[in-house]
Amino acid sequence: MAEPNFFNRTLWIGDNLSVLRGINSECVDLVCLDPPFNSQRLYNAPLGSGAAGAQFDDTWTMDGMKAEWTELQGAADPALYHTVIGASLSAGDSMQAYLVFMTLRLVEIWRVLKPTGSLYLHCDPHASHYLKQLCDCIFGTNCFRNEIVWKRTSTKSLGTRRYARDSDRIFYYTKSPRDFVWNQQYRPHDPDYVRKHYRHDDNDGLGPWRVDNLSGGKAGGASAYLPFKGALPPKNRAWAPPQRDKFPAAAAARLPENYEQLDALAKCEALDAAGLIYWSRNGVPSHKSYLSTKPGNPASDIITHIPVVAGSERTGWPTQKPLALYEHFIAASSNPDDLVLDPFCGCATTMVAAERLGRQWAGIDIDEVAIGITQKRLQEESDAAVHNVDLEGFRGGLPSLHLPPSLPLRTDPDRPTRSPRIREIRWAELGEGERRPCPGCCRNKYYDDFDLDHITPRAKGGIDADENLQLLCSSCNRIKGGHLTMAELRQRLLTDKRHQLQAESIP
Ligand SMILES: C[S@@+](CC[C@H](N)C(=O)[O-])C[C@H]1O[C@@H](n2cnc3c(N)ncnc32)[C@H](O)[C@@H]1O
Repeated sequence: MAEPNFFNRTLWIGDNLSVLRGINSECVDLVCLDPPFNSQRLYNAPLGSGAAGAQFDDTWTMDGMKAEWTELQGAADPALYHTVIGASLSAGDSMQAYLVFMTLRLVEIWRVLKPTGSLYLHCDPHASHYLKQLCDCIFGTNCFRNEIVWKRTSTKSLGTRRYARDSDRIFYYTKSPRDFVWNQQYRPHDPDYVRKHYRHDDNDGLGPWRVDNLSGGKAGGASAYLPFKGALPPKNRAWAPPQRDKFPAAAAARLPENYEQLDALAKCEALDAAGLIYWSRNGVPSHKSYLSTKPGNPASDIITHIPVVAGSERTGWPTQKPLALYEHFIAASSNPDDLVLDPFCGCATTMVAAERLGRQWAGIDIDEVAIGITQKRLQEESDAAVHNVDLEGFRGGLPSLHLPPSLPLRTDPDRPTRSPRIREIRWAELGEGERRPCPGCCRNKYYDDFDLDHITPRAKGGIDADENLQLLCSSCNRIKGGHLTMAELRQRLLTDKRHQLQAESIP
């Protein structure tokens, strides 16, 4: 794992693809991104708001995406290419352009994540189904953890002849299927559930409790099958008295010091002596399970308790997300001092959330209005921290922001020896009006007819470097696919009748 090649609290202004490409591999613990959603809208911050001037365009065409599309065709995993093509067939050019944009960035995001890192990708049903497929290709289906639904509004829009669209999606992936940071989050118990299940209270200061099974499937030695004060464990089960730490401290103090060393039956007797066993009217023993030992309901993949940004939290930035939502994700998937990156940081919601929780962070946004608003929000948090013990990260005063004047330069050992720009330059070598023979079928082709191809396919050990790249016409590239060498391509063109026309120019 490499060290980050930038400071904590860095904000880059510029296109995140170039910035991401300059970031060392495997140096980021958590990436939260809230990119454009392909909503076909132009977002403007309201005049007079703190974010006035901020604007971003969420409309997409392939015209602006030519170089990136070429790159994706030439360099990426064929599964990504086919996912994008499939989406363009069903949803058109605009979706294709959006997904080309997202694919190249997600590939880089995966690269900069540590092997134990996690990703939260915020989107909505405009493109969520395609984005999930891309993430499945990049991260692997076994690294998909959740599709989180955030109920963002309670707007009751009428007249659209469909159900009101009230929710966003957030995809949670980890880079490893097993080894990743996970801090279980809890929500308060549902009062109805508590009322229904925790009906008992001994008024001894331990609070409400419910009855819980004293028997389990695993045998705890021979004594686990013996009668306990005349009661036998149910058929095929054995006594399974809980550990001491399953009780509130004041109840555990009533148990003998050597409780953990006792056999199963002696434990049941010790629990009974401590008043922690409940006997039903027909003589079946259960143990008392106290509400105070339960941390709450495990946080769910449906979030309904976090409302949209309102009041003083609102900066005016279009599509601003609530701090509470990002605090929730950062708390679950990172530890204090971990590095959190947001490549579409907008008005710095992720950064403020990370700072509050004592994490390191970096952000990227293409709009320079982000600088002022990030500084302002950090200043406001720092002022508030003077009076608020919860704002841990801001306790040391206003954190200083790093605004690098240029792109980061990778310093990690697996950095590429040549810049990815070389590909674009090579592409540019062929002017728009020129024709040149395709190295496969030898027919003269125009700029638009060529794709970038790996001469020796990557599946056969070909490297992803400039010397192994060539321009090949799209028809030959389709036949060559990800596995034929140039000799095999020629052979295929000459022997397969379907390619007769194409093979005519081969000398
Ligand atoms: C949905 S908003 C993010 C809002 C953010 N989560 C917040 O709470 O403020 C998307 C952001 O992506 C930025 N953006 C769009 N294209 C970008 C690019 N190529 N590189 C960096 N930022 C980009 C926009 O300027 C916009 O601020």
